[in-house]
Amino acid sequence: MSDRSGTGGFDPSGIDEDAWTELERQLEATIPVYDRVNRIMTLGFDKGMRKHVRNHAKKGMKVLEVGCGPGSFAVGIEGMDLTCLDPSAEMLKVCKKRLDIVREERGESPAQYVEAIAEDIPLPDNTFDRVFCLFSFRDFKDKKQGLAEIFRVLKPGGQLVICDAGKANWLHGLFGRIYMGTFVQIVARIVTKDPNHPWKWLARTYTHYGTHSYYKNLMREVGFTDVKARLLFPGMASRFKCIKPE
Ligand SMILES: C[S@@+](CC[C@H](N)C(=O)[O-])C[C@H]1O[C@@H](n2cnc3c(N)ncnc32)[C@H](O)[C@@H]1O
Repeated sequence: MSDRSGTGGFDPSGIDEDAWTELERQLEATIPVYDRVNRIMTLGFDKGMRKHVRNHAKKGMKVLEVGCGPGSFAVGIEGMDLTCLDPSAEMLKVCKKRLDIVREERGESPAQYVEAIAEDIPLPDNTFDRVFCLFSFRDFKDKKQGLAEIFRVLKPGGQLVICDAGKANWLHGLFGRIYMGTFVQIVARIVTKDPNHPWKWLARTYTHYGTHSYYKNLMREVGFTDVKARLLFPGMASRFKCIKPE
């Protein structure tokens, strides 16, 4: 394991246990205002980003969302067999409450909920047509182990699609850090009315997040093919996609 003692427990490969436990606490604190802050800090582009990712799946597919949080992406998954995984019982509770109503109104069967981390998914091999990670990959404790577990539960030919804060390369990352450290902090402070709001921690995970080429290499190392990464308009988010070979 890497020595992350000089960076508060973070580096592009993962997050140490103590730092991750505190990060989870901070993520849970975002729940009441999560969607509102996201909407403002992305200038409303979060809706289009989620739609772009969702369009990688078709009706009837078996889909897993890893790091579903309060269900912001999951509610838009229509006509599919959906499993939502998150390590936070509180996130899953909020997600379930929200999703059960929406899915019942649409005449769909309820989603399944799994309390677990991406690095240790308690589900069988070769199960899903699609795995989605929306703004959760950055929080994995061990990025390579999480990718390996996702690879295992995908069916051969299945696809992983990740969308997270954009960091195409170090220069783009520099602009990202300025955006995260200024605009996002101001928005979070105004909405939460709390100078110690949780988006301070979310900026920290961005600082230590890797670039497109770093994660594309990890995806290839665990066996994925057709590995692609690009920024989504207007450049705030990165979208990775890759295939588990047949
Ligand atoms: C910012 S929320 C993302 C919410 C949602 N996916 C969305 O579309 O906005 C990040 C979520 O990732 C979860 N998470 C953190 N570490 C994780 C891990 N190691 N494996 C799976 N999920 C994790 C957190 O509990 C949190 O609910």
